[in-house]
Amino acid sequence: MPRVVGHADDNGAHAEQVSFERAGRTVDAERAGAAIGVSGACENRAVFVVVGVTGGIAAYKTVQLVRELIRAGHDVHVIPTDDALRFVGLPTWEAISRNPVTTSVHDDVARVRHVSLGQRADLVVVAPATANTLARMAAGLADDLLGTTLLATTAPVVVAPAMHTEMWGHPATVANLATLRERGVHVVGPADGELTGGDSGPGRMSEPEEIARFALGLVDADVRDLAGLRVVVTTGGTREPIDPVRFVGNRSSGRQGVAVALAAADRGADVHVVAAHVDAHVLAAASAHPRITLSRAGTTAELQTATTDAAATADIVVMAAAVADYRVDRVADRKLSKDGSDGTLTLTLVENPDILAGLAAERRPGQTIVGFAAETATGDELLERGHRKRARKGVDLLAVNEVGWQHGFEVEENSLLLLAADDDAPAPVRGTKRRVADALWDAVLLLR
Ligand code: PMT
Repeated sequence: MPRVVGHADDNGAHAEQVSFERAGRTVDAERAGAAIGVSGACENRAVFVVVGVTGGIAAYKTVQLVRELIRAGHDVHVIPTDDALRFVGLPTWEAISRNPVTTSVHDDVARVRHVSLGQRADLVVVAPATANTLARMAAGLADDLLGTTLLATTAPVVVAPAMHTEMWGHPATVANLATLRERGVHVVGPADGELTGGDSGPGRMSEPEEIARFALGLVDADVRDLAGLRVVVTTGGTREPIDPVRFVGNRSSGRQGVAVALAAADRGADVHVVAAHVDAHVLAAASAHPRITLSRAGTTAELQTATTDAAATADIVVMAAAVADYRVDRVADRKLSKDGSDGTLTLTLVENPDILAGLAAERRPGQTIVGFAAETATGDELLERGHRKRARKGVDLLAVNEVGWQHGFEVEENSLLLLAADDDAPAPVRGTKRRVADALWDAVLLLR
């Protein structure tokens, strides 16, 4: 049973300090909202972190990243490139990191600084990583302090790319990134969203908190609290064909499910993602993750087959996919034509099987089944509907997701009510989809 040991408010998000016993040890976690935050990772020792900052406007967000790492008690050494200093000046990096900052291989030569930081590092994070930086890293260039440090280190290296969408999608960047991944470099993001030129798309640097969590997770086995567990996560929207050209679908982008899968994999689980319709760029980070395998499903029937097969050996199943409740009863072999139409088209829809309820009814002993519920209700009605749906589906945990025209679907942030059988009125968990995904895993661990 969880033991409530305190309560904190984190930027408006509910954060309840709980500790719980698992596998014979007590784990402290910030439940519901803050999840196991940056401060929860590597809490037993200060990590020597080198933060490389390169020349992009997102450098201002890296100030927050350094701050997060310092707050969590780590020893942070910033190496800005000359271009990065055009965005954020050296005094800021020194003040925020509380360590001297140099940029040149000719500084502090007596201490062989051009390699010593890399040799001492437990972790190297490059944020933002511009297209130029990725190219330089792929080529192994060593004509500045960041370049020499990256070649001298054996520590895990994490890059957080930030650039315009066209640069991110350019074959040169794609090839450089593939080279870096092959060499074991970890990639966080980029996120999809508004960019500096007013344009929007993939290329926005991930949020500092997310980068910090991911990076620290690589150096601390203690946050591998899902290690040894086999997890299945469904994501994206199923599409039911009308004819060879058209379909009935929904607005799910797959972001929330992918975030759930990445959070589980980062915390040590072996994850199988069953992806219905999800854009390639949303799926990219999951496809590249060493602990994630992927299968695809178009229709609800295909999703059912793939998920049921994968669930046979899973410890935990999370159904984040937006599954079509109905399919078209007779799919036309040829494109429906308007010839001879009276101006209307009538489709008969028949109900699809409820995959989640089926999995819950047939769960193996020890298996945990988690559902999502997309609801447009609010307040008490949302809670009531959530309780009813949790009971009807028979799941261990239901993540009730308030959705609407502007929220829930497609966007980067989310708000969930995590309902287990004995939860009367839990506080909503809010934040990036990754953040709420971590809160969901904390809640799952409390149930197991
Ligand atoms: O993908 P994003 O753009 O990031 O958006 C995220 C999301 C809003 C899609 C996601 O967080 C979410 O809420 N997913 C569940 C959507 C949904 O199908 O809700 P529902 O209330 O209709 O279904 C409840 C549960 O039953 C879901 O777990 C669903 O996967 C499952 N279900 C539904 C119908 C069906 N025939 N079979 C099912 O298994």
